[in-house]
Amino acid sequence: MDLAARMSRLGTETAFEVLARAQALEAQGRSVVHLEIGEPDFDTPVHIREAAIEALQSGWTHYGPSAGLRELREAIARDVEKRRGLYVDPAQVVVTPGGKPILFYTMLALLEEGDEAIYPNPGFPIYESMIDFVGAKAVPLRLREERNWSFDVDEIASLITPRTKLIVLNSPHNPTGGTLDRPTLAAIAALAEKHPFSILSDEIYSRMVYEGVHESIATFPGLKDRTILLDGFSKTYAMTGWRLGYGVMEKSLATHVARLMTNSNSCTNSFVQKAGVAALEGPQDDAEAMIAEFGRRREKIVAGLNALPGVTCTKPTGAFYAFPNITGTGYASADLARAMLDEAGVAVLSGTAFGKYGEGYLRLSYANSIPNLEKALERMGTWLEEKLRTRVRS
Ligand SMILES: Cc1ncc(COP(=O)(O)O)c(C=O)c1O
Repeated sequence: MDLAARMSRLGTETAFEVLARAQALEAQGRSVVHLEIGEPDFDTPVHIREAAIEALQSGWTHYGPSAGLRELREAIARDVEKRRGLYVDPAQVVVTPGGKPILFYTMLALLEEGDEAIYPNPGFPIYESMIDFVGAKAVPLRLREERNWSFDVDEIASLITPRTKLIVLNSPHNPTGGTLDRPTLAAIAALAEKHPFSILSDEIYSRMVYEGVHESIATFPGLKDRTILLDGFSKTYAMTGWRLGYGVMEKSLATHVARLMTNSNSCTNSFVQKAGVAALEGPQDDAEAMIAEFGRRREKIVAGLNALPGVTCTKPTGAFYAFPNITGTGYASADLARAMLDEAGVAVLSGTAFGKYGEGYLRLSYANSIPNLEKALERMGTWLEEKLRTRVRS
C-alpha cells in the first residue's frame, strides 16, 4: 500500500510493545513482573459494573448524542465544579471513548501546519506524536528532576513565539509522577496574559495526588475558556478497558470536537456512559481506597529504588509512576530497560520512550501489588549488583 506521508509522522506508545514482548517471554515459561503498563491493577468497583449491566438490560444499547449523554455531561460538570471549584456548563463537556481522543481532537481542531505546540518532555508520547501528525511543530519543554519534575518558567517563556498556538500541561504527570504547583501555574497564567495560546491541560491523574492538592490551570482568571481540560474514568475508577473520558472546553470548541466525534466514533458507548454516571455520583470509597494503596506503594518503591546500586529516585507527588535516575549504573536507558526485561524478568520502560529528555531514567508503574514490587526490586537489585561488580573487576 502507498501510505499517506502523514503516517511517517505518527508515533506510538512503547508500553504496549513492551507488554507484548513481556507476554511473549511469559509464553515461553519465563516469569515477568509487569511494571510497564500504566493501568490500575484493581477491578472496576462493583457498583459501577452493576450500573453497566443494569443499563445493558434496560436497553442502553443504541447510538446516543455525539457529545455524550446529557445525564453524564451534567454529572461531569457537577464533578468538575465540586473538585476544582470551577463552574462548567454541561454544553462545555464532550464525552469520548477514553481521554486520549480529546488530545487528538483538540490538536485536529486547533493546530494548522506551521503552528507551534509546546509539550512536556519527558512526557506522554502521544502529545508529540499527535502534534507531528497534524503537521504542526512540536516544541519540547524540558522537565527537570532538580525541580521535582516541573520546569523552569523562564524556559517556557523563551519557547513562546508568535506561532505558539497551544501549550500542553500534564499534572499529575506521566511518566515522572511530578505535579505542577500553583505558583508555576500562576506564572503560565501571567504568560497567557501576554500571548494568545490555548492550553491543553491533561488532568487524567487529578485524583492521584499524595502531597498537596490538585491544581488546575483552568481555575485562573480568564483561562477557563482558553483551556481544554482532559480527565476521565480510566485511572480514577480502574476503567481503562471501558474507554470513557471527557474534555471540558469553551462551548463553540465543544461543538467542533463533537463534530469530530460524529465523524469518527459517532458517539461513546451508551451503557458505558450510564456506568460513568454511577462512577461519579456513587460511593467513592473504592476509588479512595485504591488511591490510598498507591500512596503506600509509592513509599515502598521509592525506598527500594534508592537502595539499588547506581539508582536514585525523587519522590513522585502524584499519578502511579516512579522515574528513577539510572545514570549511576553506566547504562543507557533503553539498554537497561531491555536487560531488565530479558535478563532480570522485570518489564519497565526506558525514559526515552517519553522523549529525548527521558535519557538517564526508567519509568516504573507501581500499580502492582506490594509483593510484586518487592519481587521486582529484588530482581533488579540482584542483576545490578552482579553487573556492577563484574564491571568493577574487569
Ligand atoms: C498522561 C495521560 N493522558 C491521557 C491518557 C489516556 O487515558 P485513557 O485511557 O482515558 O485514554 C493516559 C493513559 O495512559 C495518560 O497517561
